[in-house]
Amino acid sequence: MISIAPTLAGMASYPFVRLEEARQELLARGVEVIDFGKGDPNEPTDPIIRRALVDALPERAPYPLAAGLPELREAAAGWCLRRFGVAVDPESEIVPTYGAKEAIFSLAQVLDANGRSVVYGEPAYPVYERGALFAGAHVHTLPLVRERDFLPDLDRIPAETAIVWVNYPHNPTGAVAPISFYEELAQRAEEQDFIIASDEAYTELWFDEPPPSALQIADRSRVIVFQTLSKRSSMTGYRSGFVAASPEVIAALKAYRPTVGTAPQEFVQRASVVAWNDERHVEETRARYRAKRDVLLPVLERKGWEVVASEATMYLWVIAPDGTVERLLERGVIASPGEFFGPSGAGYVRFALVPTLAECERAAAILEEL
Ligand SMILES: Cc1ncc(COP(=O)(O)O)c(C=O)c1O
Repeated sequence: MISIAPTLAGMASYPFVRLEEARQELLARGVEVIDFGKGDPNEPTDPIIRRALVDALPERAPYPLAAGLPELREAAAGWCLRRFGVAVDPESEIVPTYGAKEAIFSLAQVLDANGRSVVYGEPAYPVYERGALFAGAHVHTLPLVRERDFLPDLDRIPAETAIVWVNYPHNPTGAVAPISFYEELAQRAEEQDFIIASDEAYTELWFDEPPPSALQIADRSRVIVFQTLSKRSSMTGYRSGFVAASPEVIAALKAYRPTVGTAPQEFVQRASVVAWNDERHVEETRARYRAKRDVLLPVLERKGWEVVASEATMYLWVIAPDGTVERLLERGVIASPGEFFGPSGAGYVRFALVPTLAECERAAAILEEL
């Protein structure tokens, strides 16, 4: 009898597996599906990035080193300086990652959170919890509610906390945190001796003003930032991101990562250099999300379904009547129930603006008649 790790055996199926099953059923019935479920961009990856990948494909690709190519670390540092005005040392303060997810998952192991708490706000991206559980940490959630602008109540961070995860712009609510929030959190981190892990996967998908980064606070010695090209450059399948943190943390990651083997392939790293150095394609991506948002917002408003937060990211966080997700599914429109992301998501529906503009227009017509 094969004995599976109890942490794995005890986990509920990743909620999106259930949405995928619903999608397959609809397709099998011949229903035309418009999928606002999973946050996987359908935007094309810019030709300059694809070209860079092809041009970098060697006759033989050796094992990539955990430290990554110096060119990529420099491109990431240059981007941090241009985008946030923060000088990060490419040598000692950056390590490339295989997208953000694996680095998020393993942080609790690297920092030894065993027996201490890993804290995050819910509704949430599920990986903070899973990483914490596999590391033997206690999971402690803080409700993110509208009355507090979807920011956690920092007074509720327990003693013996190892890591506090924050994710702004936030999946699923689209809320943005002001820099004062990060400053206050850093103050608590100093007092209570914990690390701030800031998942910044969505900082580049914004509509009015570019959101800040936790890197911008005065003392970032306790801050670990996770960045990725997945959403910024529509490169989910490439698997490319980076961690920016203190030399101590980066040294620990460089020691840990060769064992896991999660350095991005060098041809992906070379394409990533081009991606970080170009903002034109990111502006075009934002414009495409904005166009889709502009199609859906008026319909939702006319229906009286309030769109809350949703200032950035590719998500609309909508208060909709009970049974909305099921009624939409009957008409081929897939959206995520808010409670997929945690109990505080109840009563909300998340629309990921990933279908094409034409599909959004069709969905708007369906919504209108619902
Ligand atoms: C909040 C959040 N963080 C991190 C990620 C991971 O992104 P990736 O591993 O593709 O870089 C996602 C992906 O959906 C996300 O929603």
